[in-house]
Amino acid sequence: MKAPRELWTSRVAFILAAAGSAVGLGNIWRFSYVVGENGGAAFLIIYLIVIAIIGYPMMVTEITLGRTTHKNPIGAFKALAPNTPWWIVGGLGVLAGFVILSFYSVVSGWSISYFFKTLGGTLAEGADFEGIFGEHISGAWGPILWHALFMLITLLIIGAGVVKGISRAVRILMPVLFVLLVVLALRSLTLPGAGEGIAFYLRPDFSDLTAQSILGAVGQAFFTLSLGMGAMITYGSYLSDNDDVADNGAWVVGLDTLIAIIAGFAIFPAVFALGFDPASGPGLAFITLPAVFAEMPAGLFFGGLFFLLLSIAALTSAISLLEVVVAWLVDEKNMSRKKAAVLIGVLIFILGIPASLSMGAAEINIGAWPFFDFLDFLQESILLPLGGLLIAVFAGHVWTAQKTRETANTNGGRIKIGVWYDVLIKYIVPIAIAVVMIFGLIDVFSG
Ligand code: PHE
Repeated sequence: MKAPRELWTSRVAFILAAAGSAVGLGNIWRFSYVVGENGGAAFLIIYLIVIAIIGYPMMVTEITLGRTTHKNPIGAFKALAPNTPWWIVGGLGVLAGFVILSFYSVVSGWSISYFFKTLGGTLAEGADFEGIFGEHISGAWGPILWHALFMLITLLIIGAGVVKGISRAVRILMPVLFVLLVVLALRSLTLPGAGEGIAFYLRPDFSDLTAQSILGAVGQAFFTLSLGMGAMITYGSYLSDNDDVADNGAWVVGLDTLIAIIAGFAIFPAVFALGFDPASGPGLAFITLPAVFAEMPAGLFFGGLFFLLLSIAALTSAISLLEVVVAWLVDEKNMSRKKAAVLIGVLIFILGIPASLSMGAAEINIGAWPFFDFLDFLQESILLPLGGLLIAVFAGHVWTAQKTRETANTNGGRIKIGVWYDVLIKYIVPIAIAVVMIFGLIDVFSG
């Protein structure tokens, strides 16, 4: 006999877990370098618009599909559209779980090692922050060992069960991370020379925008909100039928966006004040933030604490990525939770090895991309937008927008999903994603 499916123990447990999934490296590490590479303020505005008109409706949609079916993404589509190929959308999500977690875990490993580096004094004032980062990620063994450690912790938590493991961890960690980020932003904003960074972050110049950067904004929105691959379907599936969707979804989107915005205030003023390049790519946060900490009293202590919390924020996101794959094996293939967690955890660890090595230790390329960048391209430009597009078409046209909206509003809280939702999910969301995807891909392959 299979154990009954778990349910979140309270509404707060869901919000924290879902916000734990959303808030992660995407808000600090990825958000900052994507904004930095795309010229700052203009990109930020596009990003916020995308969050409002695509992110929130998609969040509501995914949570609703999960809450109604109480199933993993593949199972959810099978339940709602039996004997059709729609389950493939869930399958894309499972694939995205593999792809994302393999490089996500590598970056999380960097974060764990930065916890030790900071406390150990390597990143003190006057250090060569750029050099240290470059040396760290191009190491052969170090980053792989940290990646292994991170995957091990992730699979142990998932093996133990979603609800207890996840809920307990995020309840304490999220508030502490938040406070620390605010302190960091205040220090960064008061550095001499911070003004230029504030202007970069807040004063838009729309001539900087390209098709590529708009695709980047959509990709970042999906990534940071954990959308387009069924993570929110899966977490929604552990809600009881009495839990509401729209308010919970608004909390998750709101917290995630708030944390990203604050992270930008922690990073950009310092980038300019301390003379770094905002377009320096995936190293931006790892180079800039230690430099800001070095400028603070007890900076090494706070820096260590920060990287510890970032690693934990990454962990609560990684858990949701692994959970999508594991929930599928448990629900559909009758595998035990522990066995599935170990099996998938090991496979993802293996896929992460070439990703890690491609950062400098070895030349592992796919086309023009180092393997790491290829995986990120795959999820950002194809898997998540395509998954999001198909989920929107399904909810808007197949299951029908009216049905999705009414289901979302059943046992609703304060926010009522109005008919505006129908317009967004049927037309605006899928058309916007399709256009942006096509132009973005043309841009990539012609340039
Ligand atoms: N949202 C997470 C972050 O911002 C990453 C993630 C993507 C998690 C997709 C789950 C699904 O770090």
